[in-house]
Amino acid sequence: MTFDHDIKATVRSIPDYPKKGILFHDITTLLADARAFRRAVDELVHPWAGAKVDKVAGIEARGFILGGAVAHQLSAGFVPIRKKGKLPHTTVRIAYSLEYGIDEMEMHADAVLPGERVILVDDLIATGGTAEGAVKLLRQIGANVVAACFIIDLPDLGGAAKLRAMDVPVRTLMAFE
Ligand code: PRP
Repeated sequence: MTFDHDIKATVRSIPDYPKKGILFHDITTLLADARAFRRAVDELVHPWAGAKVDKVAGIEARGFILGGAVAHQLSAGFVPIRKKGKLPHTTVRIAYSLEYGIDEMEMHADAVLPGERVILVDDLIATGGTAEGAVKLLRQIGANVVAACFIIDLPDLGGAAKLRAMDVPVRTLMAFE
C-alpha cells in the first residue's frame, strides 16, 4: 500500500535503544514531517469521521501528541492517562504489566462519564500491557471504549490480538516484524 510505505519511511528505527537487543521505533521523525503527521492523524480518525465520539483518551507520553490531534479532528474532548502521581484531582488507578515488572497508571475519575464513547490512542502497541490497562481503567469508570488506535503495531508481541479479545476494535497504520 503506497500510503503505508510513505509514512512508514518517516519512522526512524534505532538499534539497541533503550537497551541492547531492542530495536526502538521512533515516531519523532514522523511527527516532524508535516505531511506524514497529517496523513497519520487523518488515517487514524478515518473510520470515525462523522461518528459520535465523546472523548479521546491518550496514553502518556506519545499518545498525548497523537490523541490531542485526533480529538481535535473528531471534535471530541481529550483525556490524559498518566503514569501515577501526575494528576492533581481524584483519580482511579490500575497496575499494568511492562516487559519487566509492573507500573501503575491513572486518570481523573470524572474525566469520562458513564456510557461515553471513547477512543484510546497511543503511538505503538507491543505486548499490549499498557493499552490493556488503559481499557480496564476506562471501563472501570463506565466508559464505552469503541476503539483503540496506534500508528505502529508489533504483531509478533500480540498486543493488538489481546485488545481484540477484550472486544476492542483495533486500528493500526503499519507493522514492524
Ligand atoms: C511505549 C509506547 C506504549 C507502550 C507499548 O511507552 O509508547 O505506550 O510502550 O508497550 P506495550 O504494548 O508492551 O505495553 P513507554 O512505556 O516506553 O512510555 P513513554 O511513552 O512514557 O516513553
